[in-house]
Amino acid sequence: MAIRPVLQLGDPRLRQPSAAVASELLGTARLACLIDDLRHTMAARDGAGLAAPQIAVPLRVVIFGITHNPRYPDAPPIPETVLINPEWTPVGTETAEGWEGCLSVPGMRVPVLRASRLHLSAITAGGQRIDREVEGFEARIVQHECDHLNGVLLPDRLASA
Ligand code: NI
Repeated sequence: MAIRPVLQLGDPRLRQPSAAVASELLGTARLACLIDDLRHTMAARDGAGLAAPQIAVPLRVVIFGITHNPRYPDAPPIPETVLINPEWTPVGTETAEGWEGCLSVPGMRVPVLRASRLHLSAITAGGQRIDREVEGFEARIVQHECDHLNGVLLPDRLASA
């Protein structure tokens, strides 16, 4: 386990779409190590979420969670969640604008329009299937982290705000 450097805007690796995690990788020490690195790196940087490509691992794995976070003092607590191969679809048409930051885009806080409610499907760190609805700040984080898996960064979302 290690705290890894977080790639910064301008690094072409942040722009590459990440690959799906193959089923053979589920339950392996290699995947557990990646998740540990994501957890420790996110904590060390007071992040609310982190995607594997941000630490130069081009796989579809993200982590998020909020307890007390000085970067998001008004955010509701969200239990730590690891998503492998996440996919989401909007539920309804409601959208909401909210401020977002990103560990890969230091010094930038921008209002971003996101779907208010979504259906999320993914695999957990333990290999279980998740299929549930998500809303509010958690839905925002899911959309932000999934953007990373597709090489999309906050400045790309400015136009939608
Ligand atoms: Ni980010």
